[in-house]
Amino acid sequence: MALFSSFCLVLIISVFIGSTSGARTPHLDGELANGHFEIAPKPSNLKKTIIIGKNSLPNWEIRGLVEYISGGPQPGGFFYAVPRGKHAVKLGNEASISQYLKLIPGSVYSLTFGATRTCAQDEVLRVSVPGQSADLSIQTLYSSNGGDTYAWAFKALSKVVKATFHNPGIQENPHCGPLLDAVAIKEILPLSYIGGNLVKNGGFEVGPHVFKNFSTGILIPPKILDLNSPLPGWIVESLKPIKYIDRKHFTVPSGFAAVELVAGRESAIAQIIRTVTNRFYNLTFSVGDSKNGCHGSMMVQAFAGKETLQVPYSSTGQGGYKVASFRFKAISYRTRITFFSAYYHTKLHDYGQMCGPVLDDVRVFPVKQ
Ligand SMILES: *[C@@H]1O[C@H](CO)[C@@H](O)[C@H](O)[C@H]1NC(C)=O
Ligand SMILES: *[C@@H]1O[C@H](CO)[C@@H](O)[C@H](O)[C@H]1NC(C)=O
Repeated sequence: MALFSSFCLVLIISVFIGSTSGARTPHLDGELANGHFEIAPKPSNLKKTIIIGKNSLPNWEIRGLVEYISGGPQPGGFFYAVPRGKHAVKLGNEASISQYLKLIPGSVYSLTFGATRTCAQDEVLRVSVPGQSADLSIQTLYSSNGGDTYAWAFKALSKVVKATFHNPGIQENPHCGPLLDAVAIKEILPLSYIGGNLVKNGGFEVGPHVFKNFSTGILIPPKILDLNSPLPGWIVESLKPIKYIDRKHFTVPSGFAAVELVAGRESAIAQIIRTVTNRFYNLTFSVGDSKNGCHGSMMVQAFAGKETLQVPYSSTGQGGYKVASFRFKAISYRTRITFFSAYYHTKLHDYGQMCGPVLDDVRVFPVKQ
């Protein structure tokens, strides 16, 4: 009850601030209740690792074969890394866990969750709220320590929304399935143009919740129509995700956050901006590395109108950046600007970790003629 009334207070304050200044802080930016799964089911509700009973995992509702996992070596020779805290849940064939969230109808929310596969098979994690869902392939591992973290956004259509994580797969071994380590939520505020920059969220300052103590960056999965996005303004194209990185855990060229192009040519980040046909514009952006041991000769390729620019960047993995710019002529009233990494990279001391150049501070201004 106390939680609910403080929620109402925050709601009233945020609506008030929202209507006066247009800028406010998200009313939700934190873990879900028992979001780290550190509050264990009662021993009487566990059969070895299997959770017995729909309401036996505190704050969650479960369906199907859900296991309560302690990180480390497992019977049968498996090893499960649980980088945040000590416990996680594993979703077996067709199993799911759900939680009811109190939200503001009409607002967009992003879920951040640590998820990793446990067997070699194709594993998919379906995240959904009523009427909106996404199937995330978690086949590719981007971190070798089990720390892969994803974000997915949705629009709240009611005051109470049931969020569900589901394993839609049917494997021969019913114990195979995604391991969920932590879940958090953040309200994603609507964007406005800043200082005449035609690019929205060009510094990637508005993004998903970042776990406080541990982050390997947050993978933003590709989506064709991203009306509701954990990284508003931007479209992640192609097959693979890009990574959202924050200043607390990485080196970023400026501000609070940036993106790392972790999947070479298999993923691109784009935005469609409004332009005036035949007018000239200047596109500037920063290219660097996040001081995460990602090294080598990097190349970020940028496109705008009919122009393209290749920006080489030589990384020693120690952090650093350079600013690039080029002029383009708009050939339409809409111009797509796109960036991708021309090459694939892995970390110096860990060839299992995919990484790449960092992109930040994307700006487009009309050129005065
Ligand atoms: C973060 O680390 C601090 C210090 O180790 C600990 O007290 C706190 O509970 C941790 N928070 C989370 C969310 O894990
Ligand atoms: C674009 O603008 C930046 C910042 O004002 C400037 O340094 C750069 O020279 C411009 N680039 C081009 C190609 O006009």
